[in-house]
Amino acid sequence: MPHPQTIVILTGAGISAESGIATFRGPGGLWEGHRVEDVCTPAALAADPVLVHRFYDARRAALGGVVPNAAHAALARLDAGWRGELLIVTQNVDDLHERAGTRRLLHMHGELRSALCAACGSRGPHDGPLPPGSVCGGCGAGAVRPDIVFFGEMPYAMERIEAALATADLFVSIGTSGAVYPAAGFVQTARAHGAATLELNLARSAGSGWFDESRLGAAGALVPDWVDSLLAVQPLP
Ligand code: OAD
Repeated sequence: MPHPQTIVILTGAGISAESGIATFRGPGGLWEGHRVEDVCTPAALAADPVLVHRFYDARRAALGGVVPNAAHAALARLDAGWRGELLIVTQNVDDLHERAGTRRLLHMHGELRSALCAACGSRGPHDGPLPPGSVCGGCGAGAVRPDIVFFGEMPYAMERIEAALATADLFVSIGTSGAVYPAAGFVQTARAHGAATLELNLARSAGSGWFDESRLGAAGALVPDWVDSLLAVQPLP
């Protein structure tokens, strides 16, 4: 693989697994018998707001009991030390990347510690339970919901992500099953623009065949090794 200058990294639930946050599609990926696809939809929110808010209240509360692992720390080290362009795009709604110190980060699927007003679209930090009907401080509507991108909704920052993919010379996917679009298609976009592609995952993902190289193992072991090798071939200042 040639030495990269411009890197885009996509992370998924697998990077937080060793911190104790269950992945979506692995063992323990069900919540009280509900598949994530049944809870994370606008229709589910409309039909049973108590259930959907309770699901995210539980996930938000669980953040207090987990800490970043070696893979989050390694990416924060890369962010601090990499002199080239770097964008870390996470599908995760936890805050472990930022708690590890990563700054060049986008949460494309929203954030547990944020709330969204469905009436006026304003977003802001939120902690603790978020009951249905919570009132927006901006517009006064009782329409504040978890700031999570549900199935069928447009992920955040897509223009910025597409632009980064178009100029990346290395695209790396870490801990994601490749089951959910548009993130699952990033590897194809990056390839089409000439990027080298690398997957770091416990098992082959759905789109594994699109990657130039797949390294299989736990993120906590693979990511620090990969970051060390990358920092050893820094672009010239
Ligand atoms: P998944 O649960 O679909 O996939 C997790 C991936 O991580 C799998 O490929 C596992 O093999 C891998 N994995 C598990 N443990 C690992 C470890 N210790 N090290 C490395 N890899 C490991 O999660 P995502 O792909 O992130 O959307 O799911 C994508 C989206 O589906 C999520 O963002 C979420 C969900 O619906 C929203 O919440 C909007």
